[in-house]
Amino acid sequence: MPLTFDDLVTRARSLAEPGGRAVLGVAGSPGAGKTTLAEHLVRALNGSGDPWVAHVPMDGFHLADVELDRLGLRDRKGAPETFDAAGYAALLRRLREETDGDTVYAPGFERVLEQPIAGAIPVPPTARLVVTEGNYLLLDTGAWRRVRPALDEVWFCAPDEDERVRRLVARHEEFGKTHEEAVAWVRRSDQRNAELVAATRDRADLVVPVSALPRVDV
Ligand SMILES: Nc1ncnc2c1ncn2[C@@H]1O[C@H](COP(=O)(O)OP(=O)(O)OP(=O)(O)O)[C@@H](O)[C@H]1O
Ligand SMILES: [Mg+2]
Repeated sequence: MPLTFDDLVTRARSLAEPGGRAVLGVAGSPGAGKTTLAEHLVRALNGSGDPWVAHVPMDGFHLADVELDRLGLRDRKGAPETFDAAGYAALLRRLREETDGDTVYAPGFERVLEQPIAGAIPVPPTARLVVTEGNYLLLDTGAWRRVRPALDEVWFCAPDEDERVRRLVARHEEFGKTHEEAVAWVRRSDQRNAELVAATRDRADLVVPVSALPRVDV
């Protein structure tokens, strides 16, 4: 039997331990469907009761444009060196350790402004499972290598490559780029990042098969 979305929900639920907090990572290339999978998992796990699962995207650790300009990295936005990887790893450690005190705040990412926003995502002490997702969870360079040890499991999203590129172009258009700009950006910037991410796939605990991806009406 191929793995189903319900199997993923069961596996994610089993990571949470009473009294503690587990952190599940979802990795994958740009546009692979990480955010969509994480949102569906969190919704299915929380059901209609009190929320016990939180969603903390890696996206919130994008460096702000003002810092990218200072570093001369603005045109590489989205590449590993354009994130605060050490800050992300430190937050993941805090999420595991600080489970019975105050709310832990994670930064969010505003897609229209393309800027991180501090304090956007509350993780209350009642959260027993955190689902975090992003491109570089399995990277083994610099501060990124501190991320994997802070995660209980990492799942890898790898949909059909043509479909991934098509969706990515559509998403860039939706957020203001013309079709030509979107195609150029995907070819130039996203593709290089996608190759870096694809090379980390073997380090995942699970490669999510297409059969288990949530059904999304588009
Ligand atoms: N299972 C699915 N079925 C159909 N469409 C999907 C599915 N998952 C994602 N998509 C679509 O693909 C696009 C990219 O999805 P999503 O934003 O979840 O990817 P991502 O990996 O988080 O991308 P990024 O790396 O840019 O954050 C979106 O337009 C989304 O609606
Ligand atoms: Mg995303």
